Amino acid sequence: MIRQTLMILTATLTFSSFAFASGISDSERAAITDRIQPVGDVYLVGSEPATAEASGPRDGATVYGTFCVACHGTGVSGAPKKGDVGDWGARIAQGEDTLIKHAIEGFNAMPPKGTCMDCSDDEIKAAIEHMIAGL
Ligand code: HEC
Repeated sequence: MIRQTLMILTATLTFSSFAFASGISDSERAAITDRIQPVGDVYLVGSEPATAEASGPRDGATVYGTFCVACHGTGVSGAPKKGDVGDWGARIAQGEDTLIKHAIEGFNAMPPKGTCMDCSDDEIKAAIEHMIAGL
């Protein structure tokens, strides 16, 4: 009887330590914890985490840095480069209204709103002004 109990005990210990040794890794544990997170978090009034979401219009530098720089930084597909007089001279000569219109509606390889679909016209205008500032 004692012998049997010992055997069962030993077996149990062996199996549980085996399960422990082959247990999930920290990253798997983190992944599981992630998956079982509740969909929404509850915050007490006043203790909401600060969000990066802007409450007002984004400034030109922000819009440029988020959307336009992808092409206008290095001149992808012939995009006029930020701050480059040679690239912008003739375009600026068309007048700002045309620049804004082309930026909003799209122009050849220039996509409408420079891919910032939730940008307001003013935000697009600010981004253009940021690109040609000082020219
Ligand atoms: C996918 C690449 C791409 C992105 C992103 C992009 N542009 Fe452009 N953009 C171009 C190209 C290419 C041209 C040149 C088109 C031409 O002259 O044929 C251009 C031209 C322009 C022009 C000049 C239009 C004219 O009349 O000469 C303005 C203004 C402009 N882009 C504004 C922006 C703004 C503002 C953003 C960001 C909100 C932006 N672009 C994002 C590719 C891009």
